[in-house]
Amino acid sequence: METVSMPARIGGFNVVRRIARGGYGTVYHARGPGGDVAVKLYERTRDPDVVEDSRTTNGSELKRLRLAREQARAQMSLRHPNVVKMLGYGRTAEGFVVLMDLVRGWSLREILSDGRGVPPRLAIAWFLQIISALDHAHARGIVHGDLKPANVLVCRDLARVQVTDFGGAAGVRSPEVDDPRLPCTRSYAAPEVIAGERPDARSDVYSAGLVLAEMLGQKVWDSGRRIRMVLLKCLAARPEARPQTARQILRVLTKRGLRKTRAKPRPRPARSSEGTSLAWLGPMLAVLTWVLLVLVLMTPR
Ligand SMILES: Nc1ncnc2c1ncn2[C@@H]1O[C@H](COP(=O)(O)OP(=O)(O)OP(=O)(O)O)[C@@H](O)[C@H]1O
Ligand SMILES: [Mg+2]
Repeated sequence: METVSMPARIGGFNVVRRIARGGYGTVYHARGPGGDVAVKLYERTRDPDVVEDSRTTNGSELKRLRLAREQARAQMSLRHPNVVKMLGYGRTAEGFVVLMDLVRGWSLREILSDGRGVPPRLAIAWFLQIISALDHAHARGIVHGDLKPANVLVCRDLARVQVTDFGGAAGVRSPEVDDPRLPCTRSYAAPEVIAGERPDARSDVYSAGLVLAEMLGQKVWDSGRRIRMVLLKCLAARPEARPQTARQILRVLTKRGLRKTRAKPRPRPARSSEGTSLAWLGPMLAVLTWVLLVLVLMTPR
């Protein structure tokens, strides 16, 4: 059995528990003077600046640290309710660390692990939030580059999701990277990215489509025509055939969605007592009109 040692402290923070181990680091729940945070620790590594000077460091590790730093920088420039807030990054005695808001809940990976998806209403709401986060980043020139369920965190009340690990696109085309896990997870990558092109807004859209498909699972046919159409478009093999931006998806889904939800409130169904009290009015008026007409016609002039 694998025994995992957990540091008692990282930087100035007391480690409360280990949340999960990712491909390149371990995420901890930690407590500091300002409250609870999530700390991602890249163990057994040194500060990227030191590593970059070292001739002994292999290309993969160098790439990984540069990527971690670029990701942290990219995410620090984002402020959006559906993006995990990045608090800082830097060197500690334990290794390179990234400090984030702690999201209390689960990763979407955990939620989807049974392969059954989630109810379509939830899937669509979460997809819209993921797309809003992408739109916010794209508008600032930041491509996610590694969108996947493990990088989508679901808050405990299920009402909000937050995307993390933005900026994974930074090193995608680096020739010195020979680790197939670097720098993006291929199972969610767009075909052109797998073929070696740089990720862009459209490849993020493709990955978001895959995440949506997984969230809907076998309930895709219950999700409605509009969302199925968006899903199909997001998953087009050719990037030109997809929605070109996250904003386009938002427009399609929210414009029509709003029209639907803002639809005029239906007239309140008359209670049965109201129904019977007014039902006689129509026929009664018609009879009265006829009686009046007959009276007028029969009146001698
Ligand atoms: N800010 C956070 N708050 C709470 N949990 C988090 C936070 N960031 C990450 N996690 C948890 O830690 C797990 C591991 O994250 P990490 O980014 O290290 O790996 P990963 O996303 O699974 O893979 P990769 O290394 O390819 O990004 C996530 O799946 C999530 O469950
Ligand atoms: Mg991650």
